Amino acid sequence: MNNKPTIEALTRPGIQKIPPYVPGDTAESVRKKYQVTNIIKLASNENQIGMSPKAVEAVRAELENAYIYPDPSSEELRLRLGERFDLTPHNVVVTMGGSGGIALISDVFLNPGDEVLYCAPTFGAYSGSAARNGAVCVTLPLKDTGEFDLEALAAAVTDKTKIVYVCNPNNPTGGTLPHDEVVAFVDALPPHVICVVDEAYIEFAEGEEYRSVADAVNEDRRMIVMRTFSKAYGLAGLRIGYLLTSTEIHANLMKAVITFTGNRYGLAAAIASLDDKEYLAASIKNVVDGRKYLREEFEKLGFKVYPSQANFIYVDTGLSTADFAEKLKKKGLVIRGNFEYNRVTIGTPEQNEQAVRFVKEVLEEGVEPRVAE
Ligand SMILES: Cc1ncc(COP(=O)(O)O)c(C=O)c1O
Repeated sequence: MNNKPTIEALTRPGIQKIPPYVPGDTAESVRKKYQVTNIIKLASNENQIGMSPKAVEAVRAELENAYIYPDPSSEELRLRLGERFDLTPHNVVVTMGGSGGIALISDVFLNPGDEVLYCAPTFGAYSGSAARNGAVCVTLPLKDTGEFDLEALAAAVTDKTKIVYVCNPNNPTGGTLPHDEVVAFVDALPPHVICVVDEAYIEFAEGEEYRSVADAVNEDRRMIVMRTFSKAYGLAGLRIGYLLTSTEIHANLMKAVITFTGNRYGLAAAIASLDDKEYLAASIKNVVDGRKYLREEFEKLGFKVYPSQANFIYVDTGLSTADFAEKLKKKGLVIRGNFEYNRVTIGTPEQNEQAVRFVKEVLEEGVEPRVAE
């Protein structure tokens, strides 16, 4: 006789609803599976120029201190970020990457049955963290150009809406809304709604009108700006992100932050990177130039390239998205093929040129046609 409940039956209903985790390709897994030695991985929007040399030095200097707990509530980095944004440490929460920030916001604010509103396709963590807390995701289509549709979102707010996400620039499309439109949208929301503006890629946006809404954080706005060191600062492996918000929202988020969230290496690297203006400028220039190059090359091949202000481009090849990515993988170029269209991270100039060469080869060798749904 076996009355043992399954482990799944013991998990919370919200967790049961989350689809099983499927890990993405790592360079190592592609190398093994396809027997290719040189891998160019342009699939996870990592910064291909690497970390700031100052961050590398800072991590090295921390190596011998790894046995000592880090700064419990990331005070120093919060102080530095507060100064950087003309705010105080009581407006800054340091999180385990931007993903940790999204999880924290969900855990603090979402009750079962609350609605979480956003456009799709977008970053997957919004749905996962909502489901975990029993909240219901309400999704609307993006605008044709790949940005969030603020008008439609405003019209879809109900009494149950608790969080509205604005992913700006949006992943996977790269579409970006101007600063003033986002702020006007936040200001028009009813007071029971908190707007989370995900700016994981904002450093790569060109033009003053597309600047971060961090300068609009104040005591009245129910807005949380999510930022990360993973992209423009190249610290994806060190897992440091942060949230900028009012002191009232901050105080409530801080109650739930796990002590020692920022690890020694991540904190040291983030603090060192903040001072390295030269690195940041090089990081942004690499993306801006590479984005233009890849867009032009792909357009010459007849692909539709979505306007992007991020460190990736979203490309409609007109062919099978999955097969295009698969054939490139066999050559050692890893891009994303599991959205409607292909997403390609901007690489270094050499990587971008090699990527274009592989794309041309694959097109000559033949890619399966797109099958209409
Ligand atoms: C839109 C968006 N937000 C947030 C993140 C979180 O990044 P991280 O957790 O590495 O800071 C990502 C990562 O790819 C992203 O694409």
